Amino acid sequence: MLTENATQYHEDQSDVEGFDPLASMLPDWTEAKTAAFQKEIMSFRHNLAETGLFTDEALIDLLERHPSEKLDVCTMGASDHPLYPNKFRTGDFRGVPARVLLEAAKAGRVWINVREAMNVHADYKKTLDAMYGRLSEKTGNRAFNPKGGILISSPVARVPYHFDKTQTILWHVRGQKRIYLYPLTQKFISDEAYENTITNYLNDDLPYETSFDADAEIIDIPEGTALTWPLNSPHRVNNQTFCVSVTTEYSTRETGMKNAAMLTNATLRHRLGMNPSYANDGDMARKLKSVVGRVLRKTPLVPDMTTTDMVTFRIDETAESFVVDTEPYPRTF
Ligand SMILES: [Fe+2]
Repeated sequence: MLTENATQYHEDQSDVEGFDPLASMLPDWTEAKTAAFQKEIMSFRHNLAETGLFTDEALIDLLERHPSEKLDVCTMGASDHPLYPNKFRTGDFRGVPARVLLEAAKAGRVWINVREAMNVHADYKKTLDAMYGRLSEKTGNRAFNPKGGILISSPVARVPYHFDKTQTILWHVRGQKRIYLYPLTQKFISDEAYENTITNYLNDDLPYETSFDADAEIIDIPEGTALTWPLNSPHRVNNQTFCVSVTTEYSTRETGMKNAAMLTNATLRHRLGMNPSYANDGDMARKLKSVVGRVLRKTPLVPDMTTTDMVTFRIDETAESFVVDTEPYPRTF
């Protein structure tokens, strides 16, 4: 249903004289979309491609000037890889020209996350301001403080079953991407699984069973379409082709309070052997737990689970699929 709605609208207006993609960033927005925003799975059109910031040439220019500590170049271990089966792996891209990085992503096994690209660079920031400026006008929400990254991902890229702790929007720009979205119930995202990810900031993955797919909403996201869903809905993504997308996220009072309350519940469960439930807590209990969680975060009761990011391959233009395995070493760039 969503897919149909999204594909019905596509008039290329970029040739029209005086067309400003930033001014008309959300061309098919309606009152119904305002009502559904963040409450349901919903899609809307955007004009990101028309800004010219997501062509091959623009992305090469972006990769040349993006700070290396905010750039992730990864690969996925094959299921039969002797050392790193099915694992997301961190790569060393130092000294590799941007043109080669883009070629590597197109070749198949490499994906690139240009973290905070939409915030760091003035031209992209102007676009991010337009995206959220229009959203503010349409929804009446003034409190957005978004971060935006650009995903340049290969045809075989797969994002495993996970959820996001903040409100996210996926603004798909180029290629074919399929997303699976799952219900927000204990079966698909239990309180305990949520708590576990709260104490481990590097990992948002959830336990997944293939039988879950019977209840998934499966959406092929058309180019030029943004998709959003209710806070914390579990999802996974399969690329069908080389893809370019923008992901934006922002915290709200609700996300901050929930995450702090979940931290309290994690501590009650693991330190005191209790069996807390955010789902069953009333408003007062949630508020109290969120206050406690903000304090707990600064104490040794919450262990520091941050692990060292280890590099296990480097990008090499001369290698097949551009990937050369290395002995693991800590990422320092
Ligand atoms: Fe996500």
